Amino acid sequence: MRRDVRGRVVLVTGASRGIGRRLAGKLAKLGARLALTARSADDLAKLAGDLRADGTDVEAFPADLTDLADRERLVASVIERFGGLDVLVNCAGVCSFGEFSTSSEAIARRVLEVNFFAPVELTRLWQPHLTRSYEGGPAGWRPAVVNVASICGRWGIPSMSEHCASKHAFVGLTEALRGEFERFGIDVLLVLPGLVRSDDLNRHLLRNEGKIYLDFEGAQPSDEVADGVVRSLIRNKSEAAVGWVSWGVWWSRRLFPRAVRFFMQRKVWKYAERERSTG
Ligand SMILES: NC(=O)c1ccc[n+]([C@@H]2O[C@H](COP(=O)([O-])OP(=O)(O)OC[C@H]3O[C@@H](n4cnc5c(N)ncnc54)[C@H](OP(=O)(O)O)[C@@H]3O)[C@@H](O)[C@H]2O)c1
Repeated sequence: MRRDVRGRVVLVTGASRGIGRRLAGKLAKLGARLALTARSADDLAKLAGDLRADGTDVEAFPADLTDLADRERLVASVIERFGGLDVLVNCAGVCSFGEFSTSSEAIARRVLEVNFFAPVELTRLWQPHLTRSYEGGPAGWRPAVVNVASICGRWGIPSMSEHCASKHAFVGLTEALRGEFERFGIDVLLVLPGLVRSDDLNRHLLRNEGKIYLDFEGAQPSDEVADGVVRSLIRNKSEAAVGWVSWGVWWSRRLFPRAVRFFMQRKVWKYAERERSTG
């Protein structure tokens, strides 16, 4: 099946920067009508203005997705403006990079709030509207929920315990909903990026004290990941590892799990060795 998003209403969360921002641009080129959300109202308004100038039917809806009142207001505003929703892309997220033993309950709860509970409750609010999109759509049309998780949702990475926990939960939810939403005609798709270069690492990371070597600067550009999200949506791929790091871990985890374990441990040892040698 190929999904044509021309004229379809797509809500992208996390659209103010990074993957979500690039995704909005790509969906606009495909003719989608766009509802964009994140907390940074100015960044969203600027993006919406640029896309509108290029002819896209787009609106910015600033919201903190961890807040119930904001989520409800978002749904009501999008319905009022566009009359319905055809595709929900859950892309907003945060990360914490640091050892478990020196982290805190506050960080664990914050990461789970943004990466898990927010998309869970947003999906619950949108499901009846997506069902309406299926029931009222032409033959062959299927609405979709696209969950941008992480390869951390398939394999735990050291120094990212809260992030991995949130993404494992998100992956589990995605798999459960994929079956459950079949009776509503809604496809539930999973995208697993690897390490992605951030527009603003300080805002992406709640904490940046991990004791494992990760090359954030040399990581995959968010533009390529956005291409992967679009591919998944159009080709209706139920699960896609995006980028060679994610793809490599995804396959190795299935074929050589001990090798992935060794690879992760080696990254921790190498970091510890470097720390010892530099005092
Ligand atoms: N970067 C990576 O290495 C990487 C790797 C694998 C998976 N991913 C996943 O890919 C997704 C996008 O990541 P990215 O690299 O594009 O991150 P990013 O550049 O930091 O962007 C995150 C987006 O989420 C929004 N956001 C954060 N907290 C929010 C909240 N409480 N309410 C509403 N929006 C909120 C941010 O907007 P505001 O700050 O304006 O609210 C921003 O638009 C995330 O789910 C992330 O976990 C990223």
